Parts: sequence; structure tokens; C-alpha cells
Amino acid sequence: MLSNWRLTAAFTAVLAATTMAQDMSKIVNTSHNMTNLDVWGVVIPEDRICLPCHVSHNARTDDNGQAMVLWNHAITDQTFEMYTTAAGNQGRQPEGSSKMCLSCHDGATAIDDFGGNTDFFSNVKIPADSLSNLGTDLRDDHPIGVEYPPPDLTGYNDKSTFTGAKLITINGVDRVECTSCHDPHDDSLGMFLRQTMAGSALCLECHNK
Ligand code: HEC
Ligand code: HEC
Ligand code: HEC
Ligand code: HEC
Repeated sequence: MLSNWRLTAAFTAVLAATTMAQDMSKIVNTSHNMTNLDVWGVVIPEDRICLPCHVSHNARTDDNGQAMVLWNHAITDQTFEMYTTAAGNQGRQPEGSSKMCLSCHDGATAIDDFGGNTDFFSNVKIPADSLSNLGTDLRDDHPIGVEYPPPDLTGYNDKSTFTGAKLITINGVDRVECTSCHDPHDDSLGMFLRQTMAGSALCLECHNK
């Protein structure tokens, strides 16, 4: 008969295998499944995973009335401090998908401020002590809202060589934004990254170092 610790070890191994088998490319298994945040007091009707971010009708449009991926979440009204690079390029105030991300990750806009959530709204924000709370000072974060390639610099790879990273075109200009490096639905590489950080592969897609 197996001793107790062997049983425990075997059980742990099964658990680990079950955990590993979870498909992290599915949002349901990620930290963006906010139906798991009932412990923080976030209530999402019918456990609708997409609802904090998307809705099928009466979604928000941007300031110009343009569609934005059927967005359902309140948009941040904060002003951000942006990174200025050594070459003197300063990131523009967040727009497009970056503004969507910062509508929770600013730590100032409530996670549960979506749709007509007034019945359930309890003003739950990403906690101040979470690394995921980027705050409004983005000078300690990789620049966003910057042009790619930077107009005045060499040392950047041609975008046709990218296999994971992606550029976001706003007003006809290719830029680096949050979704250049992250896909909010797919956590299979960890941290919702579009490319592995092993060997700094993500960084080397853009930076020719
Ligand atoms: C945490 C917020 C969040 C959640 C939850 C979320 N999305 Fe998204 N989704 C986004 C953002 C941000 C974009 C815009 C991304 C971009 O422009 O690259 C987006 C874009 C999309 C798009 C259009 C672009 C694409 O990637 O295909 C579709 C379709 C989509 N989401 C479907 C879903 C569905 C279905 C669910 C639920 C199963 C879901 N999303 C849950 C944030 C979210
Ligand atoms: C509706 C709110 C909401 C929106 C919008 C949102 N997130 Fe999140 N995100 C969260 C929450 C909540 C967590 C978990 C925070 C924690 O555990 O401290 C999280 C976690 C993360 C993490 C950390 C994952 C980990 O494994 O630790 C990353 C990276 C991330 N989000 C990126 C993004 C990006 C990029 C966007 C925009 C494309 C985005 N998020 C949009 C709510 C949001
Ligand atoms: C140039 C690539 C890049 C851009 C642009 C980028 N991130 Fe990240 N982000 C990363 C990497 C890489 C990590 C993982 C850090 C690590 O593992 O050391 C990360 C981690 C995170 C985390 C987890 C907390 C942490 O500090 O580790 C959050 C939340 C996050 N990013 C959100 C965002 C948001 C929101 C934006 C836009 C304002 C953004 N990211 C822009 C590459 C990027
Ligand atoms: C999608 C392309 C892209 C990816 C991926 C990327 N970068 Fe960048 N990075 C840029 C651009 C564009 C700038 C702004 C350069 C400028 O305008 O001066 C920049 C700026 C920087 C700077 C600041 C330089 C300065 O002058 O202050 C550093 C450091 C940096 N990146 C490191 C990294 C690291 C580390 C990674 C991986 C985690 C990474 N980058 C991923 C495109 C990228």
C-alpha cells in the first residue's frame, strides 16, 4: 500500500497535470475572467465573461462616434504622465486599445463600472498593491503611443519580420500600444503576451540589438 506522503505526491501530480492541461489561450482560464473576482466584490450578471469589456448592442463609441470593438466598459478619464525617450520622443496620451486597457489598469477606474451595472456596482478597483495597477504615471513603463519605427532612429526591425508583436495604426501612423505586446484574450505565453519572453524574443522582434 502507498504511504500517505506517496498518495499526497501522486494526488499533487494529478492536480498539477490538470492545471497544466488548462488551455490558457481560452480567456475563461485567465485573470481576465472576472467572474472569479467575486472575492473582491465584483458581480457579473450570469457569469458573462465578455461583459465587463464587450456588449452586443448599445456599445460605446469613441469621441468621433467610431465603433470600438463593441466596448462596454467605462473609459478612463485620467490624464497620464508619458515616457520621453532618450531621442526626445514622447508617447501620446493613451488612445484606442491602450485607453481600453487603462480603463482598469489605471487603478482609478472601477473594474465593475461597465454597461448598466448600477445594480451591482461597488466601485472595485485593481488594488494599489497589485503589480497590475499601473497607475497614471506611465514613465516607468515601456513607452506607448510612440511611432514605429521611431522617425529619427535606426536599430529597429522591419515590421514584416514580426511573428508575435503587432503595430497599431492610428490616423495612418504605426504605433506601439499595449496591444503591440499583449493580447487580452490569450494567456498561453503568460502575462497575456504575444511573444515569449524566453531569450527576450518579444523585445528582439522590434529592437535590433
Ligand atoms: C479584459 C477585457 C476583455 C475581455 C474580458 C474580453 N475582451 Fe475582447 N477585446 C478586448 C480589447 C481591449 C480588444 C481590442 C484589442 C485590439 O484592438 O487588439 C478586444 C477585441 C475583441 C475582438 C475584436 C478583435 C479580435 O481580437 O478579434 C473580439 C472579436 C473580441 N474581443 C471578443 C471577445 C469575446 C468573445 C470575449 C469573451 C469570451 C472577450 N472578447 C472578452 C478586451 C477584452
Ligand atoms: C475590465 C477591466 C480590465 C480591462 C479592460 C483590462 N484588464 Fe488586464 N486585468 C484586469 C484584472 C482585474 C487583472 C488581475 C489583476 C490582479 O490580479 O491584481 C488583470 C490582469 C492583467 C495582466 C496580468 C496577468 C497576470 O498573469 O498577472 C495583464 C498583463 C493585463 N491584465 C493586461 C491587459 C491589457 C494589455 C489590457 C488591454 C488590452 C487589459 N489588461 C484590459 C482587468 C482588466
Ligand atoms: C513593449 C512591450 C509592452 C508594452 C507596449 C506593454 N507591455 Fe505590459 N508587459 C510587457 C511584458 C514583457 C510584461 C511581463 C513583465 C515580466 O514578466 O517581467 C508585461 C506585464 C504587464 C502587466 C503585469 C504586471 C507587471 O508589471 O508585470 C500588466 C498589467 C501590463 N503589462 C499591462 C500593460 C498595459 C495596460 C500596457 C499599455 C499601457 C502595456 N502593458 C504595454 C510588455 C509590454
Ligand atoms: C512593438 C515593438 C517593440 C517591442 C516589442 C519592444 N519595444 Fe522597446 N521600444 C519600441 C519603440 C518604438 C520605442 C521608442 C523609441 C523612441 O521613440 O525613441 C521603444 C523604447 C524602448 C526603450 C526606451 C529607450 C529610450 O530611449 O528611453 C527601452 C529601454 C526599450 N524599448 C526596451 C524594450 C524591452 C526590454 C522590450 C521587451 C520587453 C521592448 N523594448 C519591446 C518598440 C518596441
